Amino acid sequence: MTTWWRISRSVLIALWLIVITGTPPPAFGGNVLAVYPHFGFSHFKVVMPILNELARRGHQLTVISYVNHPQAAEWPNYEQLLISQAGEDQSSTTINLVPLSEHTPTRSLLTLFWEYIALHSEGQESCERLYASGHVETVLKRHQTKPYDLLLTEYFNSDCQLALAKLMDLPIIGLSTCALMPYYYDRIDLPDTPSFIQSEFVGFAGVLSWDERLVNFIQAKMLKLLYKYHSIRADNALVRKHFGIDVDVDEVARTQTAFIFGNQHYSLMGSRPQSRQFIEVGGVHLTSQAEQELPPNIAQFLDQSEVPIIFISWGSMVRISSIDADKLAAIVEALERQPLRVIWKWEADEKPKMDSTKFLFVKWAPQLALLCHPKVELFWAHGGLLGTTESVHCGKPMLVTPIYGDQFLNAFSVQNRGMGLKLDYEEIRVTSVTQALNELNNTSYATRSLGISKIFNQRENSPLESAIWCVEHVIQHGLLAAEMLQSPGIELNWFVYHSLDSVCLIFVVLMVLAYSLCHFSGGSSSKSFNGNRRRKSKRS
Ligand SMILES: *[C@@H]1O[C@H](CO)[C@@H](O)[C@H](O)[C@H]1NC(C)=O
Ligand SMILES: *[C@@H]1O[C@H](CO)[C@@H](O)[C@H](O)[C@H]1NC(C)=O
Repeated sequence: MTTWWRISRSVLIALWLIVITGTPPPAFGGNVLAVYPHFGFSHFKVVMPILNELARRGHQLTVISYVNHPQAAEWPNYEQLLISQAGEDQSSTTINLVPLSEHTPTRSLLTLFWEYIALHSEGQESCERLYASGHVETVLKRHQTKPYDLLLTEYFNSDCQLALAKLMDLPIIGLSTCALMPYYYDRIDLPDTPSFIQSEFVGFAGVLSWDERLVNFIQAKMLKLLYKYHSIRADNALVRKHFGIDVDVDEVARTQTAFIFGNQHYSLMGSRPQSRQFIEVGGVHLTSQAEQELPPNIAQFLDQSEVPIIFISWGSMVRISSIDADKLAAIVEALERQPLRVIWKWEADEKPKMDSTKFLFVKWAPQLALLCHPKVELFWAHGGLLGTTESVHCGKPMLVTPIYGDQFLNAFSVQNRGMGLKLDYEEIRVTSVTQALNELNNTSYATRSLGISKIFNQRENSPLESAIWCVEHVIQHGLLAAEMLQSPGIELNWFVYHSLDSVCLIFVVLMVLAYSLCHFSGGSSSKSFNGNRRRKSKRS
């Protein structure tokens, strides 16, 4: 690429920015490589606001993902390389996938193990598809003429994409769209302290009892070992197969990660000891763009209602129409007795026959606008993190029926902070639903939700500003920024890390001292002392 071409392109981008947004770009323009190998649309929804803002600020972006960004074609500095086949619209094929028969009722260690195996296979499949796409070669070639400054990626269920950071010598910013997976904590020296921190795969009501602490401890450590000796090895093997080089992606992650963005906030997930490298960006997807107008039928239903509204939505992945007939009947019977009106997200064409002044079934709803509407007083959710976050933002109490994955953790997070209740899918009956609704009518839930909403929304910097600051900091200072941020703790083995070497030594010295004191002091001391001497001299 010639210098002249580069300059004229920069001038074009600058002009375009001033025309479009009225703001000139920052003095330094970064060249960002963003690789999101996971297919889930909800994952990309968290990333998108950050990429949009980086593009708006004039940085050059190359984005490898499954999601066809609606604005990509209009932006000269946003290049997208799609992993999906042409014409395969991921935003519509990855919704309404999960029938309710696939709910996982308990969180036993065995369930967690199978969930890990499923995540692992999914991660490996994403890796295979990423490497088969040809985009990896494209960006490596591009790096030789116009070097990238930074790798933005997702930390979720695979790390094979980190080989790119190694080959291009780039600092990494990872993003976790759910609560951070336990196996990533060590990368940035974030304490996992399973005595009180509930990690991704579990969830417990209230303070952990001793047996819950044991389960929490075992799952956190087990997942770390599984990931290290199973997933990381598979990633390394894939990299070796593809590039013919030996790279340890775990080592790359530890030495080149500058920040990890977590889609969480302490007001929802709980306060915990922090790492300099962990940035809470929970709520980053709540942009003004996300707040859409209510369609006329919903607006009219809300206006005409003289009673509060309960909004039921179990997310974009779960197929609510697959609900068991007896559970549906129980929910309807319980709701009919309540002085409430119901807006229900129901994706199937065939809807339950119900009193249309009380029930409104909608295929899709602008969730954020609906949750923040003053007449909506309760949200019956499945505990997906985006919906839960939106409800916290709007300050609405929740009834949460978790179905799979991190939804159990999120449900307990809501319940443990007094913002709502968890009701298991298996437990749905007329009595349990009625009981839950009556309990949630206690004003303490609305009051807590509103109070926590204010804390959630009052940030020193908005989540987007924090994220952008970090990205631009790393663009400007590169691997040095990562080096300065990294905790020396990540290089130590666990024995030294927890000062067990010192503890052991002190323990041994104390034991020797105690032993000596017992044997060499007191009334019988001279006798035993002599006895000792005699025994010693005998030996010699
Ligand atoms: C909540 O309780 C109040 C009285 O305390 C009652 O008037 C109202 O109908 C109840 N609402 C629901 C949804 O049960
Ligand atoms: C509402 O909840 C609070 C706190 O849990 C409790 O003290 C109070 O008795 C409850 N009120 C009713 C009417 O159940």
